Amino acid sequence: MNEEKVESIISEINTKFENVKEINELQLLKSEYLGKKGIITEMQSGIKEAADKKSYGMMVNKVRTTFNDLYEEKLKELNELELNRKLESEKIDITLPATKIRQGSPNILEKVVEDMESLFMSMGYDVVEGPEIEEDLYNFELLNLPKGHPARDSQDTFYLEGDKILLRSHTSPVQARTMLKGKGETPIRIVCPGKTYRRDDDDATHSHNFMQIEGLLIDKKATLADLKGTFDVVAKHLFGDDCKTRFRPSYYPFTEPSVETDISCFKCKGEGCPICKNTGWITISGAGVVHPNVLKMCGYDPEVWHGFAFGFGLERIAMLKYGINDIRTFYNTDLREIKAFDRRED
Ligand code: DAH
Repeated sequence: MNEEKVESIISEINTKFENVKEINELQLLKSEYLGKKGIITEMQSGIKEAADKKSYGMMVNKVRTTFNDLYEEKLKELNELELNRKLESEKIDITLPATKIRQGSPNILEKVVEDMESLFMSMGYDVVEGPEIEEDLYNFELLNLPKGHPARDSQDTFYLEGDKILLRSHTSPVQARTMLKGKGETPIRIVCPGKTYRRDDDDATHSHNFMQIEGLLIDKKATLADLKGTFDVVAKHLFGDDCKTRFRPSYYPFTEPSVETDISCFKCKGEGCPICKNTGWITISGAGVVHPNVLKMCGYDPEVWHGFAFGFGLERIAMLKYGINDIRTFYNTDLREIKAFDRRED
């Protein structure tokens, strides 16, 4: 080996490094020169046979140092290149329009329930719940609807087991349950929102599953006039201060007298339109003075205690309030329709 040879090896190394574009090529080059059978490794072992070991050693060292320096330099260069490539690919273009994050919103029926609950709570009512799978006893018997009573038919009930267990057809059984707990001693002021079921064929205004909010007030001095006052507050809260109310005589076995409660049409203000079917009035609940038989059966002495009760259909209220004309909308899962509710925010 001589200087010339060394220079040619070094120039070869230089060219090879110049051609390296990727880190893995660099690794290959390393093993080509410094691996077990690498060019520099072999040169190194040739020292044994060299005549002038010192100058031979210096020459090998020169090659090795050149290789190592070039290696380090290339490695740094490639790493930097890689980093820049990465930064480039991860660059965020802040001028691009942002990705829209879909926002959920409360279920519209749930919103009506919560609104009604907080209104009644502000008037001193408690919110209670009752079971959806109910006994005939609470759903009918204790509400003055004995077996064979014709009014049972109107409730189209789903029976689950024989004639004793059923899906409640209204929220009124909670009245009976609460009165029995009161043991004829404590005044009662409750509202009970919840699901109810009837064997109806579903259409735009009927659903076999719907919601009601039941109300019951029992006290020593409670009259139909108190019911009227309470209903007035509810109606104005729901449909605005200019909402008028009226009672029409009706029949429910659990109240006497019984009434249908109407509000003046919020759309046409009484002049007549499709919403109020040209009557100027819209019925939104059934109500009445608690029947003495119900008080008696549920442990309250009708000579001492009086009360009123009411039952609102919650979908009906939501439909009127938010201009929804198909009750099935509440129970389907079409996000486009559900989203449309958001825009009905007041
Ligand atoms: N439970 C009745 C129904 O589902 C509604 C109702 C009417 C509830 C009068 C009452 C009431 O508490 O007093 O049709």
